[in-house]
Amino acid sequence: MNTTAHSDLWPAFQQANRSRRAIREFQATRISSEDIYDLVGEAAFAPSSGNLQPYEFHWVRTPSAKEAVARACNGQRAASTAAELLVVVASPALGKKTALTQLAYIDSYSSMEPKSKEYHRKQIGKFQKILGIGGSLLLSPALFIAAMIRPTLSLLPIGPIGSRHWAARNAMFAAQTLMLGAAAKGIDSCPMEGFSATKVAAILNLPRGSVVPLVIALGYRADTARIEKRWRRSMMDVVVPH
Ligand SMILES: Cc1cc2nc3c(=O)[nH]c(=O)nc-3n(C[C@H](O)[C@H](O)[C@H](O)COP(=O)(O)O)c2cc1C
Repeated sequence: MNTTAHSDLWPAFQQANRSRRAIREFQATRISSEDIYDLVGEAAFAPSSGNLQPYEFHWVRTPSAKEAVARACNGQRAASTAAELLVVVASPALGKKTALTQLAYIDSYSSMEPKSKEYHRKQIGKFQKILGIGGSLLLSPALFIAAMIRPTLSLLPIGPIGSRHWAARNAMFAAQTLMLGAAAKGIDSCPMEGFSATKVAAILNLPRGSVVPLVIALGYRADTARIEKRWRRSMMDVVVPH
């Protein structure tokens, strides 16, 4: 695609981006399965570290589970009125699983250039090492001490805590892509971190080591939904030229 073709996308992107708002009251109208799968399908194209995609979207469909998750979202109206609830689940284990699936894919891809195969195997191997050896329990206190001395090291994906943060960070790219996709389809959303992760994990029976960075409420905005005035910092505050 040439530069001109890319620039044609800008108005559509801007429109979708500007129409995505945090909506906190929804109509009862459900969202079709096709739309949900379309959105998750696009979210999967989000970038991730080492392409390890260490996340899942748990679509909470049964009324009892949906009610329980909404209650675990501190009773937020966005959750209790949501037509659909998607729980973003992340874990280093999902990253490790993706690494194996991806290696099998590379091995079976006969027409992939040897150089590409080599590149992917090396990349995946590097991340397997980080998530494998780096997952050692002993490294969490080591990371804590290192981060106290050098705060910029706080985000290293080592130790059980560091690697869970890593997984959650990666999941958020997919979550944002999903919400932008929803906006492009005229579907509203509300990202929520105001919930009890322990309760949500218990309701969904998540394996130990999982973290829940976000619950996403989806639906069509109610006529009575209050849309807050949108405020952002000035470019001067956001861009720091060096
Ligand atoms: C990580 C994250 C957590 C959030 N948690 C909540 C939440 O628990 N409840 C809520 O009503 N909004 C929540 N929001 C929505 C923000 O309040 C909202 O995005 C912000 O005010 C900007 O408004 P806009 O999204 O309409 O532009 C969250 C947003 C993000 C990114």
